[in-house]
Amino acid sequence: MNIVLTRRLPGSSVGKLAQYYTVRTVDKGRPLNSGEITEELSRADVAICTLTDKIGKEQISSQLKCLITFSVGLEHLDLPTLIHRGIRVSHTPVVLTAATADLTWALLLACARRLTEGSSHVQAGEFNGFGPELFLGMPLEGAVLGIIGMGRIGQAVALRGKGFGLREVLYSSPRRLEPAVEKELCARSVELEELLRNSDFVSIHCPHRPETRYLIGASELRQMKDRACLINTARGPIIDEEALAAHLRQKPHFVCGLDVYEEEPTIHPGLLGRRNAICLPHMGSANLPSREAMARVCIEEAIRFAKGDRLLYELDEKGGVAQ
Ligand code: GLV
Repeated sequence: MNIVLTRRLPGSSVGKLAQYYTVRTVDKGRPLNSGEITEELSRADVAICTLTDKIGKEQISSQLKCLITFSVGLEHLDLPTLIHRGIRVSHTPVVLTAATADLTWALLLACARRLTEGSSHVQAGEFNGFGPELFLGMPLEGAVLGIIGMGRIGQAVALRGKGFGLREVLYSSPRRLEPAVEKELCARSVELEELLRNSDFVSIHCPHRPETRYLIGASELRQMKDRACLINTARGPIIDEEALAAHLRQKPHFVCGLDVYEEEPTIHPGLLGRRNAICLPHMGSANLPSREAMARVCIEEAIRFAKGDRLLYELDEKGGVAQ
């Protein structure tokens, strides 16, 4: 059987595939374009792709039997078509939860305490001594943190908040947590509107689905406090970037920290060069152990497939757990 990897993956587990497959690693040092993906997938029984590989009807060949994505997110895959054609699909949840929650807090703290502004000031040789009003930021102690989407990553973000003396964690999510988990995380379930009105920090952790596209648009931004901070390490299209850019222009004390964008790698020009926006290059899961673990999950799923075993994270057409 042939397996294709659209990018080189970190770690040594890729070597294990040779026992089961003829392996082809493409890696052009950049995401493949749609023609290249079609071409590569046309010769593969199994493919390991990444979140930049948009795989729809045109890319799915009759030879493909199993597709594994090096990501937890799934919106780049046409799952209904894949599943309808009998292709088994899997991904890499769990192993990137801690890394993504850590990055969320890094971004949140960087926004709250104006780290990028302070660093640029020093690097530009402008620092001329301590100032009582220099780079005043937002306190965490006594603040309200709102979490949109309380899955694994949302919960890991709430857990990490426990050391900061937050007043409260509010969350809005389709499913309520067990009361014991709510208690452990000091989290209270509320409607999105209440969360937006009352939170000093809002962090997005829901998946991108048709129903979450532009979940945060102009009217939601208006519901937020003028002096608030919005963090997105989930998926870009959950925020209407045009509306966010306008809001950042109008509300100088409103800050955002973004790791993901509506049309990656393009970024709305209104988000660039702004004092009140910190923008990172989609690096939520980017630490070596997490990325190696993601690679390992992909390889192990491919080996399970080759052996005819059940996949650990097999998906159904809605992105849920396949039964
Ligand atoms: C990262 O964004 C992922 O979905 O793994």
